[in-house]
Amino acid sequence: MSLSDKFLQILQDNQLVTLAVASLAIVGALSLSSKILSFLKLIFDVYVRPGKSLKSFGAGGGAWAVITGASDGIGKEFALQLAAAKFNVLLISRTMSKLQELSEEIEKKYQVDTKLYAMDFCKGDPKDYEKIKEIISTIEVGVLINNVGTNHEIPTPFDLETDEIIHNIVEVNIAGLLKVTKIVLPNMLSRNKGLILNIGSFSGMMGTPYLSVYSGSKSFMNTWSQAIGAELQSKGIVVENVNTYFVVSAMSKVRRPSYLVPLPKPYVKSILNKIGVPGGASWVPFNSINYPSHAFANWIITNSFSWSFWVNQALVQNGNTRKRALRKREREAAAAKSQ
Ligand SMILES: NC(=O)c1ccc[n+]([C@@H]2O[C@H](COP(=O)([O-])OP(=O)(O)OC[C@H]3O[C@@H](n4cnc5c(N)ncnc54)[C@H](OP(=O)(O)O)[C@@H]3O)[C@@H](O)[C@H]2O)c1
Repeated sequence: MSLSDKFLQILQDNQLVTLAVASLAIVGALSLSSKILSFLKLIFDVYVRPGKSLKSFGAGGGAWAVITGASDGIGKEFALQLAAAKFNVLLISRTMSKLQELSEEIEKKYQVDTKLYAMDFCKGDPKDYEKIKEIISTIEVGVLINNVGTNHEIPTPFDLETDEIIHNIVEVNIAGLLKVTKIVLPNMLSRNKGLILNIGSFSGMMGTPYLSVYSGSKSFMNTWSQAIGAELQSKGIVVENVNTYFVVSAMSKVRRPSYLVPLPKPYVKSILNKIGVPGGASWVPFNSINYPSHAFANWIITNSFSWSFWVNQALVQNGNTRKRALRKREREAAAAKSQ
């Protein structure tokens, strides 16, 4: 009798074993089908499913988009693309000269109105928020892009991080987010209409060693977005935590685009085309990942190895980045000394 015949004989003789094997086969088939279905849904979301139209938030009807961290990177691209969609734009960030340059470009190219406000979110100055409140009281806000963010200068263990950097991350990424949203919300609630995009990070989904305060601040943004998203959905306000992977920018320190690291322009386009579509983030409410390569990367991360594996990967990778950054600092200090 061959081995396979023997195996079949055991199955026939023992009903319990048969039941166990059948159950395992069913569980395996269900788990495989759920993965295949989730991948098909991802492809549908990313390539086929349309997002909500920007017109439904007031584009072209005199409504304004408020963008924090608007003078560079992802925020600047939001300002340009929302103005192209015919929103007037209120641009907020630190450097007035950069804001003025952008405002001139926008008014010339898109014939919409702009307002500018220069402030440093790190300072947490109540006068700045009063001023924003004053400006908001004169306009109808259709869209709020909570984009301003700050990070650790280099990957650093929490116990070695400076109090100043910890303070800045909390003040900009958490306090600034809450204060600006609290100011804008009544304006949206009065019309039962609005879109709030919170520019989050994959490090808010998964603990990121050596960038712990940034990671925690984006995790705050993620869970807070889910909570207020649920509170506000019956009031006509759409809230989305935009789970962002790497994008070329000053903050990411990546200069050349690649398949996995897009320029801000295609990245922001993929977000604005897919408002309300979860894409690669379908298992977390009020979250989205719609840039195709980011959505696929996220699917692989969440459907392959364990969470501990990925946190450990980040530990090793950021540990190596830290070593390189420290060596660069040493070289720069030596060069400065010899001058
Ligand atoms: N790029 C990525 O790979 C990536 C990945 C995940 C998440 N994100 C998130 O995306 C958002 C935008 O990042 P980005 O990469 O586009 O950054 P960026 O290119 O460095 O631009 C940051 C913008 O924020 C402004 N800003 C910075 N600190 C400020 C402060 N203290 N007060 C006021 N304005 C301030 C800057 O204005 P000034 O130049 O005038 O200071 C600039 O307009 C952030 O929330 C970031 O966490 C980015």
